[in-house]
Order: sequence, then structure tokens, then C-alpha cells
Amino acid sequence: MKKKLVVATNNTHKLEEISAILGEEMELLSLKDIQCNADIPETADTLEGNARQKAQYIYNNYGMNCFADDTGLEVEALNGAPGVFSARYAGDGHDSEANMQKLLQELEGKENRKAQFRTAICLIMDGKEYLFEGIVKGKIISEKRGGAGFGYDPIFVPEGYDLTFAELGNDIKNTISHRARAVEKLCTFLKG
Ligand code: IMP
Repeated sequence: MKKKLVVATNNTHKLEEISAILGEEMELLSLKDIQCNADIPETADTLEGNARQKAQYIYNNYGMNCFADDTGLEVEALNGAPGVFSARYAGDGHDSEANMQKLLQELEGKENRKAQFRTAICLIMDGKEYLFEGIVKGKIISEKRGGAGFGYDPIFVPEGYDLTFAELGNDIKNTISHRARAVEKLCTFLKG
């Protein structure tokens, strides 16, 4: 019988991405699959802390092996902001448009446009915790370009490319992204 692993998300895209790599070996369950409708707390001040908090919530309440992730955009000239606050940079509305506008304003007149997306994953397996990290480096341009993706994708150009994540589209993004890199490390660990 396949081992069960809870992915602390209801994001079908994340689940598909992970089952494409791991589906043969593990049975992946979403929060919905385990009937978890709770608003899982994410109150830590680091990406790792939030990932751990979410994974611990599932492990402690459902007693199942699981993993959770958290992602942030870290901008060098802003000392790593918005970072763990990426989703609510411009307020609690989680409004991507407002978040991008605020970031572009903060960077106005700044020469250093270097930034990176960073994903932290916390896996809890038989009571032990493991952390994985995925990073994609790049830069923030000064106006939005492209219609694919979500969040800050229209203003982020990954290193080695001239197009934004939103112009590159999901097929390319999913092979080079922070999340893909973190998930790859997780999958290598689980397969090993
Ligand atoms: P989450 O931890 O995956 O929910 O990501 C937190 C926030 O970071 C999102 O609400 C987005 O604003 C931003 N973000 C995360 N991943 C991406 C991405 O792949 N592209 C653009 N923005 C992202």
C-alpha cells in the first residue's frame, strides 16, 4: 500500500505539480481530503516558521505525515522585504495589484533591483521535522508585463531570461521556480 502524505494546501495546482513527481510512490492528500476546513495559523515572522507552524498543526491535530510551504519575495534594496509579508504587503486584502504597486513605488529611483523568490517547505515524517528551501534569483522591472501566473509574476524577471514569469508562462516557470526547486529537494528526499 502507498504511504499517505498530507499536503497542507487546497491549491490544486500545487498538488498536481507534486503528484506529477511523487504520485507513483505516495498517496497525496489535500486539506479537503482530510476534512480540514480550519484557517491554519500562519503567524511566524519567517517563511520557515510559517511552514513549520502549518505542518505542526496538521501533524498535531490529524496525526498524519504532512508538509507545508511558505513563499516570499525578498528584495535586496528593501532589506529582504516584503519577504514573509508578501501576500499582505499593501494590506490584509491580499491584493496582488496593490502589492505590486506598493513595491514599484518603494523601488522608485533605486538602482539595485535585485530580488529573489524563496520557498521554505517543512516536512513532518513520523514525528521528525525536515526543512527544504528553493530559491530563484532575478530582478524587479519598473512596469508590469505578461498575463500568466499570479502574485508578483508580472514584475519579476528570473536570472538568465529577458521575460517576466508572467510572460514566460507556467510551463517554463514551473521548471525553474523557487517552489519547483524546493519541491524537487523534498521529492529527492522522499524517494531516497
Ligand atoms: P504562498 O506562501 O505560496 O501563499 O505565497 C505568499 C505570497 O507570495 C503570495 O500571496 C504571492 O504574493 C507571493 N508569491 C508566492 N509565490 C509566488 C510566485 O510564484 N509568483 C509570484 N508571487 C508569488
